Amino acid sequence: MIDTINIAVTATSNSRLSQVDFNNIPFGKVYADHMFMADFKGGEWTDYQILPYQNLSISPANSAIHYGQSVFEGMKAYKNAKDEVLVFRPYDNLKRINKSADRMCIPQIPSDLFMGGMTELLRLDRAWVPKKAGTSLYIRPFVFATDEYIGIRPSDTYKFMIFTCPVGAYYSEPVKVKIETEHARAIEGGTGYAKAAGNYAAALYPAKIAQQQGYHQLIWTDAKSHEYIEESGTMNVMFMIGDTLITAPAGETILKGVTRDSVLTLAREWGIQVEERKVAVKEVINALKNDTLKEAFGTGTAATIANIATIGYDGKDYQLPQTGETSFTAKVLRELEGIKSGNLSDPFNWVHKI
Ligand code: COI
Repeated sequence: MIDTINIAVTATSNSRLSQVDFNNIPFGKVYADHMFMADFKGGEWTDYQILPYQNLSISPANSAIHYGQSVFEGMKAYKNAKDEVLVFRPYDNLKRINKSADRMCIPQIPSDLFMGGMTELLRLDRAWVPKKAGTSLYIRPFVFATDEYIGIRPSDTYKFMIFTCPVGAYYSEPVKVKIETEHARAIEGGTGYAKAAGNYAAALYPAKIAQQQGYHQLIWTDAKSHEYIEESGTMNVMFMIGDTLITAPAGETILKGVTRDSVLTLAREWGIQVEERKVAVKEVINALKNDTLKEAFGTGTAATIANIATIGYDGKDYQLPQTGETSFTAKVLRELEGIKSGNLSDPFNWVHKI
């Protein structure tokens, strides 16, 4: 049950909905009509409002811009056959945004603020939730420092906001990834487990180099030895070696993905051997060489289940076998999409109805 909160709502008189081609939605470029906003000042969250999606006015000395005191989340909403709006595992994202906030000295987001703001926003913009298979309404909650101060210390004031955008696939084709062995994304004691804005900024340069080499994304390795697989920045990564599903443990340096957990839960339910343990780069390369690496894929809210077609390592590209409809990758994608959109039963109570 969601506690109700008082939100001042200013609805748009100029909806952009009719301008959207729902048959051709790019990821993250089209924004729904409204956004939710709350301010933290005087030690409490206040001024809850929903207003037309618009630019913000921010001081040039805003501390989030300078020092990156900012964290975010990603969720997705779907419509079921009865046209009801369903959100996938939002309480897990609430838990994670607060873990991220804690690490970045940002005040906690109370459940009623997170869930209440999201619920009211989705009710107002329910027409923006697409129905076509492979599409959804991406929900982006985020919180950032708003003090006008260029000294280094946690801000006293913050904004928590949520906007949404109808989206299609994040990766429109099977991905080509490079195992990164020079730069690092995270280290023990750092912020790797948090969805902190700066983690993504720091990943841009190594990812740009990989993109110039023809890859879509990196697979990060541990910062100390570069011998162990971590995650991919936009997604966690999993390998089917023989008949065992293997993935690195979500710990200090690896984001605890909600999709990651959902895939592991389904795999265990289906009787598949699952191993959450350190995954040596050598093990993956050997499995590629001796053809025991059957499938590799990324898991993420935006990425959903992203098939990996090619893994680059040490200047050599390894092609993975083509995965068909009977592969684990295809099966788990179908199952998850079915649960999220209310077309399949939801034995783990993952789906939250708005
Ligand atoms: C998500 O999957 O929601 C993320 O935040 C990843 C981002 C690269 C879009």
